[in-house]
Amino acid sequence: MNNVHISETVLRDANQSLIATRMPFSDFESILETMDSVGYHALECWGGATFDACLRYLNEDPWERLRRIKQKVKKTPLQMLLRGQNILGYRHYPDEVVRLFVARSAANGIDIFRIFDALNDFRNIEVAVDEALKQNAHVQGAICFTTSPVHNLENFVQLGKQLEAMGCHSICIKDMAGIMGPQEAYDLVKALKATVELPLYLHTHATTGLGPITYYKAVEAGCDGIDCAISSFSNGTSQPATETLNYALKQAGYETGVDDLKLKEVNDHFKPLRNKYIESNQMNPFVMGVETDALVYQIPGGMLSNLIAQLEAQNALDRLDEVLQETPRVRQDLGYPPLVTPMSQMVGFQSVMNVLSGERYQTVASEIRAYVRGEYGRPPGEINPELMEKVLNGEKPIEGRFAETLKPQFEEAKRALKGLARSDEDVLSYLAFPQIAEKFLKERDERESTVVSYTIREG
Ligand code: CO
Repeated sequence: MNNVHISETVLRDANQSLIATRMPFSDFESILETMDSVGYHALECWGGATFDACLRYLNEDPWERLRRIKQKVKKTPLQMLLRGQNILGYRHYPDEVVRLFVARSAANGIDIFRIFDALNDFRNIEVAVDEALKQNAHVQGAICFTTSPVHNLENFVQLGKQLEAMGCHSICIKDMAGIMGPQEAYDLVKALKATVELPLYLHTHATTGLGPITYYKAVEAGCDGIDCAISSFSNGTSQPATETLNYALKQAGYETGVDDLKLKEVNDHFKPLRNKYIESNQMNPFVMGVETDALVYQIPGGMLSNLIAQLEAQNALDRLDEVLQETPRVRQDLGYPPLVTPMSQMVGFQSVMNVLSGERYQTVASEIRAYVRGEYGRPPGEINPELMEKVLNGEKPIEGRFAETLKPQFEEAKRALKGLARSDEDVLSYLAFPQIAEKFLKERDERESTVVSYTIREG
């Protein structure tokens, strides 16, 4: 019978989806060695929003976190989610920065790079893929799954072939919204397996309740691995539960390599943490239920809560229905981009503006302008010609790879930090999130000078 790999997401995606990535290292340090002995295919622990949240909210150096995880997790590969040419931010970086970021991530402990581009424009991941290959890491190319009149089985298969040709070691189908149905998963996995030689992984969220059945059908179609979260941090906007899928798959004769008793130990560690986060209002029980609106609106759960928050801030929650009707129209105008970061935020923000201003595109957000100019890459479909004309005003959009127009930034960033940086990693943190990294590095110096002066006084 087949093997099915299970990757654990509690440290990254579950953490991000349920508690906005607020889990400090100290909350999971003591369970890492046990997690290492479970038999997971990989531990997803870095990238996505973890980097930003460490610096912004947790007063942690994300690189230090990675090194400390690596010290305890010696056997299980560590996996990160990388946004291709965007690294972990919301804009494109020059190639030298992307290469250095990948190289330093590998040197600090990342074994598996899962790399995606929000538009599935793989020109935006080729540099990151190439560098990760050079670092002898496992390179997993990801395809963002979405539904639209311009997305079909044939497109996704073509994307899979492209990833194979780029030298990726495996492919991930990334269903960030949790809207992939079991039959869709079955057909997609079958089609990819029939044309591509590489191992295939499926990533979904339990948001709409489809997750477990979608995984099961995907495995029946030959899917090699799935992403799950330990039960106390599973379901809702997180991944389906590790224990549940492990149990169901083993019963059907699949080999997962996962030790059931160790899983219980892991869950016994995280269960009280879940209660702690609920009591401190960091985990909202709302995100843990089944939310089927995403099936109606075809937008990710996280995007829905962002729209609600934006409207609440404007005292305009009563316009939510209009915004939800506007969102697919804006997406259509933009050529049906998959609604994943940063596109989900961009489409959402423009939809809110279109509704609240009373006139569509009266104001066009600067990111949307950049998108229309081609700075994010090639959209899956056609951009609405009227919107194109309004933004470009006679100019020509960029046809090539936007990153090629960018000048190197590393040395300049290093100079700007004026000695605050102690390593290339510090400079990379600054390039990814300038203000918050600078603040973090300043405070680090202050903290440490306090410690030094204490020592002197006591001495
Ligand atoms: Co995800």
